[in-house]
Amino acid sequence: FATPLLIPPVMPRAGRITTRGGKNIDYYEISMRQLSQQVLPAGMPATTVWGYGAVTAASKKGLLLHHAPSLTIEAQWNRPVRVKWINELVDGTGGYLSHLLPVDPTLHWANPPGGEEHRDHRPHFDETPGPYTGPVPIVTHVHGSVGVGDESDGYAEAWYLPAAIDIPAGYATEGTWYDFFATKAGDAYGVEWGPGFATFQYPSTQRASTIWYHDHTLGMTRLNVYAGPAGFFLIRGGPEGDDALLDARTGARAILPGPAPKEGDKFPPNKTYYEIPIAVQDRSFNPDGSLFYPDSREFFDGIAGEYIPEGEFSPIWNPEFFGETLIANGNTWPFQVVEQRRYRFRFLNGCQSRFLILDFGDIPGVRAWQIGNEGGFLAAPVDLAEHANRLLLGPAERADLVVDFAAVPLGDHVLGNVGPDEPFGGGEPGVDFPLANPQTTGQVLAFRVVPAVGPDPTTPPEHLVLPPLTPLPAESFVRPLALIEQMGEGVDAAGEPLEGPTEAQLGTVDDDGVPTEYDWDDEITENPDVGSTEVWEFFNTTGDAHPMHVHEVAFEVVSREGLVMEGEGEEREVVVPLRLDGNVTPPEPWETGVKDTVIAYPGQVTRLRATFDRAGQYVWHCHIVEHEDNEMMRPYRIGPVQP
Ligand code: C2O
Ligand code: CU
Repeated sequence: FATPLLIPPVMPRAGRITTRGGKNIDYYEISMRQLSQQVLPAGMPATTVWGYGAVTAASKKGLLLHHAPSLTIEAQWNRPVRVKWINELVDGTGGYLSHLLPVDPTLHWANPPGGEEHRDHRPHFDETPGPYTGPVPIVTHVHGSVGVGDESDGYAEAWYLPAAIDIPAGYATEGTWYDFFATKAGDAYGVEWGPGFATFQYPSTQRASTIWYHDHTLGMTRLNVYAGPAGFFLIRGGPEGDDALLDARTGARAILPGPAPKEGDKFPPNKTYYEIPIAVQDRSFNPDGSLFYPDSREFFDGIAGEYIPEGEFSPIWNPEFFGETLIANGNTWPFQVVEQRRYRFRFLNGCQSRFLILDFGDIPGVRAWQIGNEGGFLAAPVDLAEHANRLLLGPAERADLVVDFAAVPLGDHVLGNVGPDEPFGGGEPGVDFPLANPQTTGQVLAFRVVPAVGPDPTTPPEHLVLPPLTPLPAESFVRPLALIEQMGEGVDAAGEPLEGPTEAQLGTVDDDGVPTEYDWDDEITENPDVGSTEVWEFFNTTGDAHPMHVHEVAFEVVSREGLVMEGEGEEREVVVPLRLDGNVTPPEPWETGVKDTVIAYPGQVTRLRATFDRAGQYVWHCHIVEHEDNEMMRPYRIGPVQP
């Protein structure tokens, strides 16, 4: 706990655009760059990372610009945000930079010459061409942006390379969907896309919420995001914003802890923030300070060339990754000075595969309440004391907390993590799964408690009345979907068939309860009508929990229900055809309101309800980024299927 927690400053705007209709749009020009950052404690080597940052800002004096994680985009409710996202992964002379991490060309992405072939034929291990070393494709997704046009959603196949001077012949400079969306953006907003950039627009008409942005390139998201590009995007104001909270004792407006950083604040700041966003991620490092990410499937499955000489296995890709350290806002194990008063923290689980269970249990006298999740405020504050002072966050989930340090003794107190250092299946920490290593990944950051400098004007969370929720209309369609474990197929040295490691996939469930898996490249199977409300059911037939995310919409969690299982212990499996066991549970208190990511537990169906308002082509996927990169993502379409 040697480094102060970095509180991400606000991303400076490039300007404001007024449309002909008189509407104001906040405009940003944001590039992704390679930079060197002190992620490890001072005195240890620096780390080369990628970060988004403002290229154009009214003033750059005394501001932090590019960083990993990146600066916070502060959006006002009902004022659109337009961003020119620029791929600046180039060196000082304009030549392209190649990836910091080993890229597996046998996954479903199409750039390397011959990539198509590798993808279709998962080559013999020895013939594997090795990691892709060409220029890096990127495309940005604002995770949780509701009602966004598909041209601006960061469709995984709408990636683009930097405008580098030395792109070799044979590379596609844009993904297959780039031109289609470029034309669409031109028609819709009159914005131009060009070499090395795309301009997206976000309506910001949804409830005030904690959303975030990150790279979403097909088959490479896990690597691009691991290198750094991710940041908070906060929508404030409107009828369900901070100003809509009431104090139950007086009926007057409630006060939440603040301020948060504002655009133009100096860096490092010369004022105290009481509202702080905290992105928790996991990373491993090589001795020279560089990021470590496995370059072979052996890392996870112990598969070597001799062991499985031939088969449908991706030789570099790993099915999950658990870093050896936790970083908070870009530093390993930082500390945050807090006064003996209330703070607001917006936590994001930005890990690769790791489910976090934040543990306030070792902070004597602390009180913590969750007031919001991905889509804004909950139905009512949740006192974490009623839940063992713990907070479960699957990858990509967020939690808006008010934490009271008034009764916490002065000095350092550690926020723990009791989630596992391995895939998660639900259950009790230390009973159903081993705790994270208490020396390393079992610790997130330290709160350095000091006396309060003045009275605390904020409303005690037990008296907060959160804004009323508007329930979605009843559904017109129920769509059963499946999370499926796929056994790999190969042959051994003697040419005999051999079952390989498993990979998770998505699919549908027919009327008889039989699941069918689909690849990313298969035809669209989820096609809601424009304006329709549907219930989506995720039947999880795999052995692990998956954080399921649907683009474009915010959804209500409806219920979970058990599936009929058979067998004991490790052998325990979901019975196919799928059957429900009648054991229905309502959403957890912290899953009220609206969400964009939900944990689908093994052996259960998880149901959500959403209204699909805007026509276009989007995706739904598991947010274990290793999974989404290898077939645990599917396109879906609202409205008529594109010819
Ligand atoms: Cu946070 Cu489709 O992603
Ligand atoms: Cu998954």
